[in-house]
Amino acid sequence: MKVICPGSFDPVTLGHLDIIERAARSFDEVVVGVGRNTSKNGLFSLEDRLSMLTQACAALPNVTVDPIDGLLAEYCREHGVGAIVKGLRFASDFDYELQMAQMNKQLTGVETILLPTAAQWSFVSSTLVREIALMHGDVSTFVPDFVVTALEVQAARRSPERESGSRR
Ligand code: PNS
Repeated sequence: MKVICPGSFDPVTLGHLDIIERAARSFDEVVVGVGRNTSKNGLFSLEDRLSMLTQACAALPNVTVDPIDGLLAEYCREHGVGAIVKGLRFASDFDYELQMAQMNKQLTGVETILLPTAAQWSFVSSTLVREIALMHGDVSTFVPDFVVTALEVQAARRSPERESGSRR
């Protein structure tokens, strides 16, 4: 079966990659579906997120990366995707995911499979990684090395005086 791991991936974390790798071991084909960012707090462009995911998944032969335009349920119908696979970290994830799973099922009949996140990544989110990185904290245990570099570039762009030293 072909499945999709959808998300914003802004940026991709080791928690996301754990779910993608487990899906790739369990299913024939995995599409990593990258949503367009509607939130004002988005950091990376769609092109950057697609490129980082392509690099992160390069060693997984049955995984491809694709943008999702419009409804996820419609994408699944149009591309022959049998199920949506998502990670569950804690109870509030479940409430949100259950509602989306039921809505997606109602829309086109697509099933959702929820995988418990590995305990070591249960507290990791892209939102926290962005916040820590933009305040020059260390996120190297939560994201791949090349994502650390991309985050450092973004952090330097947003506070250039830190890079060149204080001018006062
Ligand atoms: O977990 P995330 O990062 O918030 O997930 C984002 C994504 C892309 C999975 C979600 O925003 C999505 O499904 N977008 C497509 C629009 C859609 O189908 N909306 C109705 C959901 S029931």
